[in-house]
Amino acid sequence: MSPLPNRVTLVEVGPRDGLQNESRPIPAATKIELVERLQRAGLREIEATSYVSPKWVPQMADAAEVMAGVTRHSGVRYSVLTPNLKGFEAALAGRPDEIVVFGAASEAFSQRNINCGIEESIERFRPVVEAARTQGIKVRCAVSCALGCPYQGEVTADQVERVVRLMKGIGVQHCGIADTIGVGTPRHAQAALERALKHFPLNEVSGHFHDTYGQALANIYACLEMGVHIFDTSVAGLGGCPYARGATGNVATEDVVFMLDGLGVATGIDIDALVDAGAWISGELGRPPVSRVGRALLARRASL
Ligand code: HMG
Ligand code: MG
Repeated sequence: MSPLPNRVTLVEVGPRDGLQNESRPIPAATKIELVERLQRAGLREIEATSYVSPKWVPQMADAAEVMAGVTRHSGVRYSVLTPNLKGFEAALAGRPDEIVVFGAASEAFSQRNINCGIEESIERFRPVVEAARTQGIKVRCAVSCALGCPYQGEVTADQVERVVRLMKGIGVQHCGIADTIGVGTPRHAQAALERALKHFPLNEVSGHFHDTYGQALANIYACLEMGVHIFDTSVAGLGGCPYARGATGNVATEDVVFMLDGLGVATGIDIDALVDAGAWISGELGRPPVSRVGRALLARRASL
């Protein structure tokens, strides 16, 4: 058995991926409060919002207000999605520590999500990456549909690697491999992450697993066995992509922290404060937390 990493970094994507799919408008104040509760729970990487077209994703139209309203905690890094130069220029006022350009391993998903094919998306990202790096802002990419596509179906590791290589070629510094629709299983996840590791160092590769088919924790464990130690997670299991219908939320941060605590892998996250944050935002959205761990710990508290 290979040793697991001693420490794992969780990138909390709840405020962005978690909320972008909500049909009812959520006040910016609620989003800001969510970021605050997450940083108080010990999250040190927070994907706060996205600067995308409000016609495409109305829920993220308040990106500037959210970034302006967040109280910065020292040691916390804030990232935002920027699909093009317009988004990047708008994002600058919010002083992000990191930006995310998001492409896809499938042509069909690229078209549906960002209205252009893979090659063209890379040409759109190129000036964004250049501008960000000139300003000292780190650049991460997301490679969506790396384990399956709602339109194309199967996606091969070669298709994943093609986009990984293109991202590296334009100067992206960190590569996130995303199972947008949550269909991947552990060996499949490992095969995709291996392709990323051919082009990016271990410290700059992460996994982003939606939990639609309940495979996300197993996929994360499989990646831990490879030494991968950065994962995107979403408090209360919130999330989905408006352009991947039927896909449910990201793996819940609570579930991942509970597993890592049990494995003796440090995260720096206070599970009780995290469960409170998950219960709070779920209450704001009018539903119970999706996180199994969140529900179990809340039930245990109620029974004491
Ligand atoms: P487009 O329509 O091709 O863009 O959209 P355009 O350049 O032709 O511009 C059309 C209009 O949009 C113009 O306005 C632009 O100003 C405006 P108009 O003249 O019609 O009034 N516009 C913008 N407004 C604000 N911010 C911008 C921006 N860009 C153009 N940045 C575009 C192309 C990429 C903008 C659009 O397709 C889009 O916004 N897509 C975003 C979709 C999205 O947010 N999806 C969810 C996030 S990705 C995800 O969830 C996956 C991830 O979690 C990993 C995983 O799970 O796979 C990351
Ligand atoms: Mg996602």
